[in-house]
Amino acid sequence: MKIVKTVQNMRQLSKKAKANNKSVGFVPTMGYLHDGHLSLIHRARKDCDIVVVSIFVNPMQFAQGEDLKTYPRDFDMDRKLAESAGADVVFYPDAKHICPKDSSTFISVENLDKIWEGKTRPEHFRGVCTIVGKLFNIVNPDIAYFGQKDAQQTAIIKRMIKDLNFNVSIVVVPTVREKDGLAMSSRNKYLSSDERKAALVLYRSLQEAKEMIKNGEKKSDNVLERIKSIIKKERLSYMDYVGIVNFEDFSSVSEISKTSLIIIACRIGKTRLIDNFLLI
Ligand code: PAJ
Repeated sequence: MKIVKTVQNMRQLSKKAKANNKSVGFVPTMGYLHDGHLSLIHRARKDCDIVVVSIFVNPMQFAQGEDLKTYPRDFDMDRKLAESAGADVVFYPDAKHICPKDSSTFISVENLDKIWEGKTRPEHFRGVCTIVGKLFNIVNPDIAYFGQKDAQQTAIIKRMIKDLNFNVSIVVVPTVREKDGLAMSSRNKYLSSDERKAALVLYRSLQEAKEMIKNGEKKSDNVLERIKSIIKKERLSYMDYVGIVNFEDFSSVSEISKTSLIIIACRIGKTRLIDNFLLI
């Protein structure tokens, strides 16, 4: 497996792959890889000739006061895990090359980036789209892989690709969970053992919602009430939002249907966690 650090070398490598008629699969990450990330790499390995994984903690998607400085990093571990999952290349650029201070061009997917996650984190998706757009231009992948875990991010990237005619298709990979149901996340590392138990409230409330819907409940309000009451009972949790939305445009729906998505964001202690459940 190759470690590539410069934009120029990454471009050359991708150009060469294309010249040899090889398909390029791309998995963008911020590192501290876990089984969720690895499932994206495995999928890319199955689909594509060359698998590129980027590891870059993107400063543009963190607001002042968020966890940019403390975001977990372990390049040696990541390198080994990426290789064992089947990556051919790890693109590990330096922030000063990829986000120069004098950069003044950004990508905003308007409206969709202002609601739900975007309401709490107003600059977040602009930072995500700008970096993902840049990475697409550098890596030039045929297929890029994103996790259902970050459902709004996935919807926004799809929209960006459509609106700006990026020549890449997207594959969305299901959320990988711990044995007890907690969605895997690099941020789970922040949780104390009490908080780790409390964090299960996200999965528990989604499961309860799933059960209600399976038993015929169609009214979003009734399901939302139930979720809110479960979260309220958990002493260490503080609800940021819970919604039932259309999975593409994230508009709230009053009647639950096959295109609905239940989304939750909670703070557990100081750690903010998100999860979702797709009804399709
Ligand atoms: P990061 O949080 O490292 O996640 C990288 C990819 O892994 C994303 O597509 C995310 O949805 C997916 N992922 C994370 N946890 C997962 C899980 N439990 N199951 C399945 N997939 C999971 O998302 C980002 O980085 C950044 O915003 C990025 C797209 C790299 C842009 O900086």
